[in-house]
Amino acid sequence: MNIKRVKRIRIFDTTLRDGEQTPGVSLTVEDKIEIAHQLSKLGVDVIEAGSPMSSEGEKKVVKAIAQEGLKSEICALARATKGDIDKAIDCDVDLIHLFIPTSPVQMKYAVNLNQAQVISATVEMIEYIKKHGLKCEFSPMDATRSKMPFLKQVCKAAEKTGADMINIPDTVGIMTPKTISKFISEIRSAIEVPISIHCHDDFGMAVANSLAAVEAGATQVHCTINGLGERAGNASLEEIVMALHMIYKMKTSVNSRLLYSTSRIVSTLTGLFVQANKAIVGENAFAHESGIHTRGITVKPLTFEPIKPELVGRKRRLVAGKLAGTRGIKAELEEIGITPNEKQLREIVKRIKDLGDKGKMVTDADLLAITSAVIGEVIAEEKIVDLCDLAVMTGIKVIPTASVRLVLDGKEYSAAETGVGPVDAVLKAIQKLTQNLEKIRLNEYRLEAITGGSNAVAEVIIKVEDEKGNIISARAAREDIVMASVEAMINGINKILIKNRKQGK
Ligand code: KIV
Ligand code: ZN
Repeated sequence: MNIKRVKRIRIFDTTLRDGEQTPGVSLTVEDKIEIAHQLSKLGVDVIEAGSPMSSEGEKKVVKAIAQEGLKSEICALARATKGDIDKAIDCDVDLIHLFIPTSPVQMKYAVNLNQAQVISATVEMIEYIKKHGLKCEFSPMDATRSKMPFLKQVCKAAEKTGADMINIPDTVGIMTPKTISKFISEIRSAIEVPISIHCHDDFGMAVANSLAAVEAGATQVHCTINGLGERAGNASLEEIVMALHMIYKMKTSVNSRLLYSTSRIVSTLTGLFVQANKAIVGENAFAHESGIHTRGITVKPLTFEPIKPELVGRKRRLVAGKLAGTRGIKAELEEIGITPNEKQLREIVKRIKDLGDKGKMVTDADLLAITSAVIGEVIAEEKIVDLCDLAVMTGIKVIPTASVRLVLDGKEYSAAETGVGPVDAVLKAIQKLTQNLEKIRLNEYRLEAITGGSNAVAEVIIKVEDEKGNIISARAAREDIVMASVEAMINGINKILIKNRKQGK
């Protein structure tokens, strides 16, 4: 099949179904509705909203999502039983995703059905769905470990009965790009109905395998935001979409500019952090530290940037560190309105590299401290928000409480807040106080221990967001987690306030 003839690949998002099966993730009704709205805005063709058979609560959520009048088609998952299908029909969805195991191991140990029983259940249940006037996507579960002649027989029976799409799940992620390509070609030769692909990431090949399946003729890809999903997860939507758009030059209905904000919403609501070096949406995906890179980037972004950050709703970030070059550090300082002269800049770069050579992480606070030392009091004058005093209280029978005294534009203010822990309480108190200047909220908080032991240096990386949606990241490293959090938060607030004032906002 000539992939150039395919105009558009359908994106079937299963964040709210397979993604919610991620160990430790459980979303509330409100969370799921918020994510569904974002997915529809993002432009996915199908939202698999959940598995109505799993609980009354889940059924209610799927029904609620189906009633939101979203642009995307809403789908519910069902096993091959009338009971499951009735529950999905009750939710008023557009489409039912029907699945039944077809591999010997799952037929025997998961459902205890023989081949004839699997075929008759498939036919009967597709007939039942179609009789109710709904679309049906059929998945022979664990397809990639099934016997090919039997799998073809099941797929042909599903096609003949009226399945609108046949989805091939690589349920335990055991394929490679080469084997899935051959596999899809073989299924392709047996049926006419469109083929979809559903890959899991057990060997880290879900995205590569999904793309290989597209090359072999699949016209729809199942994927999840941030690659959430059972065990190691599913194919990541953002990676699939960007590879289709930019490498394969194929279209999807997804608005790539909303990929990062969607990733952030899903990460916040699921509580699952995205690894820093994750493609497209990771903290470092558009960050450059080494001198040769930052030099290239500032002269011609194409040198080290295969994707323009704006295309996925992001901004380039130049990071100070021992590998950083003069241009990168200059750009970082300019971001917060500091323009050292050439001699000063050379000295700042030298001191940062010395610090890095000693094995120390260079934080924003370090960069500011060094710059301040090199160029005098300029930075101190630029501090809009400063910490005067802080007290936190926590324990078994006390609600974690923090009281904070800050100087804001030269005036002293104090506030107290409670939280789920001392860090939450103190960051809430800081945000409450800085509202006197501008509404700035914490958008992301990440904590990393740099060395082992209870005296480990904790690095806190935060992102703060102003009312216009501008986001700035800041970090701080200290042995005291509360103090590292406070310092990072105040750094971030200062950065965003200084930037906004310089731009006359
Ligand atoms: O991975 C899988 O096989 C599934 C099925 C429900 C299609 O998620
Ligand atoms: Zn799955």
